[in-house]
Amino acid sequence: MQTKSWLKAGLFAAVATASFAAVPARAQGALVMYCGVQEEWCRAMSTAFEKDTGIKVAMTRKSAGEIYAQLKAESANPRGDIWWGGTGDPHLQAAEEGLTQEYESPVNKDLNDWAISQWTAAKKRSIGIYAGALGFGFNTQQIKQKGIPEPKCWADLLNAKLKDDVQVADPNSSGTAYNLLATVVQLMGEDKGFEYLKALHKNISQYTKSGAAPAKAASLGETAVGIVFIHDAVVFAVQGDPIKPVAPCEGTGYEIGSMSIVKGARNLDNAKKFYDWALTPAAQALAAPAKSYQVPSNKNAPVPAQSPKMSEMKLINYDFVKYGSSAERNRLLAKWDKEVKALPK
Ligand code: F6P
Repeated sequence: MQTKSWLKAGLFAAVATASFAAVPARAQGALVMYCGVQEEWCRAMSTAFEKDTGIKVAMTRKSAGEIYAQLKAESANPRGDIWWGGTGDPHLQAAEEGLTQEYESPVNKDLNDWAISQWTAAKKRSIGIYAGALGFGFNTQQIKQKGIPEPKCWADLLNAKLKDDVQVADPNSSGTAYNLLATVVQLMGEDKGFEYLKALHKNISQYTKSGAAPAKAASLGETAVGIVFIHDAVVFAVQGDPIKPVAPCEGTGYEIGSMSIVKGARNLDNAKKFYDWALTPAAQALAAPAKSYQVPSNKNAPVPAQSPKMSEMKLINYDFVKYGSSAERNRLLAKWDKEVKALPK
């Protein structure tokens, strides 16, 4: 599987929200971008692309599940051109459902194996742009105040003293939270995984819409623990906030952040231009200055010094094909809604 091959290869050694009405999508020189990462990185990418090409970008930031749902809702009359960023699973579901289209970039040859494995799994309809591991961040002061040991494992998040003091996103909207759902099912088995999520529910104060929001909440002491991609907790740790990022001791899942061209894109040539550009080392190097510490997919792009060292973590052999399939994602989300979210606290 891809995890093993990339680890073996040692590759881990180391909006302004625009209104679509404001930019006529049919106009020459336009690109409608649905962006699935943090706002600051989305803006850095759209601004740099505009500067490099003169193509005007209308960008909206949303979570991965929301972008997938939007593409589906708009499929009869597509408004978007490029979906850049966000966890790979909903990109794979969109590919399977014909919401995105095939493309082979000349830059593919410079990408890490795991980025190409996303492209192969998606039958050329999606490509890996970055990778990051799942974990959590905890507020060191809050944990001290509670008088409990620092959490190191998924199991530690079930401590009764963390009641109403853990945040994670809703997996229907958030790719991060769906990654958690798929990770615990793979790590613990489906029955035990759902038992875990039900027990965790008792400690959840709120299911946020965006995946990274709990990291900010933990950095501010609004929650003791935020379950997030580890790089999203690192953002606050490096700026000196009292948050510690953790790679859970039992092992954890990871994402292949992805990019796809919308089927029926009105500005198809510009979407392809953006796609090729976004895979270059120069474009991928825009991540770290925008406080985004994922591992880039281009082998020649610099890995940010702040990137969590995935080679030192116990990573599961995440089955992207299965958990990115339409049937499995729909089934798990419906089961989570019924058996976890609906539970009284
Ligand atoms: O940009 C931060 C990030 O965690 C990405 O690594 C990830 O793909 C994305 O956000 C997921 O966001 P959400 O959970 O809101 O879909």
